[in-house]
Amino acid sequence: MELSKKEIIEILKSNDKSIFKTADEVRREYVGDGIHLRGLIEFSNICKRNCLYCGLQSANRSVKRYRLSKNEILTLAKKGAKDGYKTIVLQSGEDDFYTTDLLCDIVSEIKSLGVAITLSIGEKNFEEYKAYKEAGADRFLLRIETTDENLYKKMHPYADFANRRRCLYDLKRLGYETGTGCLVGLPEQSVESLADDILFFKELNADMVGIGPFIPHPQTPLKTQPVGNFELAVKVMALTRVILPDINIPATTAMESLREDGRMFALQSGANVIMPNLTDEFHKKMYEIYPNKVSITGLELENKISQTGRFIVSDSCGFRKNN
Ligand code: 5AD
Repeated sequence: MELSKKEIIEILKSNDKSIFKTADEVRREYVGDGIHLRGLIEFSNICKRNCLYCGLQSANRSVKRYRLSKNEILTLAKKGAKDGYKTIVLQSGEDDFYTTDLLCDIVSEIKSLGVAITLSIGEKNFEEYKAYKEAGADRFLLRIETTDENLYKKMHPYADFANRRRCLYDLKRLGYETGTGCLVGLPEQSVESLADDILFFKELNADMVGIGPFIPHPQTPLKTQPVGNFELAVKVMALTRVILPDINIPATTAMESLREDGRMFALQSGANVIMPNLTDEFHKKMYEIYPNKVSITGLELENKISQTGRFIVSDSCGFRKNN
């Protein structure tokens, strides 16, 4: 469906909630009732960046930092593959300890398990992205966070908006299924800029889009800021579904952290993906991007999904092209 910026803004500002139902119908028509699970491994919480909102920012000295070894990562990935996950997502802070050679080595070993691989490791150059792709990576997640350049500058000291855009276009050019997304509820973020975020997803032709409400972390400069609006975040997600009908959209953990069964609500408002956390309990606690990060997996999750009349896809990797 084509929507103008003006129409998007109107929907975001109005009290009308029919967009949730519309997005649910579009989701059913284009990608069906199946839910794809992506098993997430948070392999390092060390990060050289200082994103104001993120609990893992390098300035936060109270985080216990960790890095998983290649063997630890492979052990988690093997367990995931054995438990039936068809996609493994490797996520970390921007941690230069993992050289291109080491990452490629890890990617190709995981690839031999017969799963799809998604990387979520931040901004790299074209040659690095190319090397991971050749080693077997299929997808890459890199949220633009916000398309409001002024706000982007404030939120990301020393970072460069143009470079982030460049990364996303390089990933597309290299043939990755490319995921992006934004935060909803950053300080001073306007509804107009959220409309621009949605139009950016369309311009990029993103294959995946993850949207989450901003949740203030007590050890960051944004600790006293108000938490993002849950319904507004789901609205941004629902509009994204309507505008990019065949893409993969996760019901994000941040939504679940703000509201009980928030992810189930998201699944009924356009989402078709869930990313259960496969990181071991010890390290999971230290990967605190925002507080109270929930994680339900296994039977509990399956029960909730079947209560909504949906089912978990177990026989495909869930690429956009199959949708
Ligand atoms: N609240 C919600 N989401 C956050 N992220 C980082 N910090 C926060 C926060 N305080 C999101 C960013 C990032 C993703 C991995 O986590 O959008 O891309």
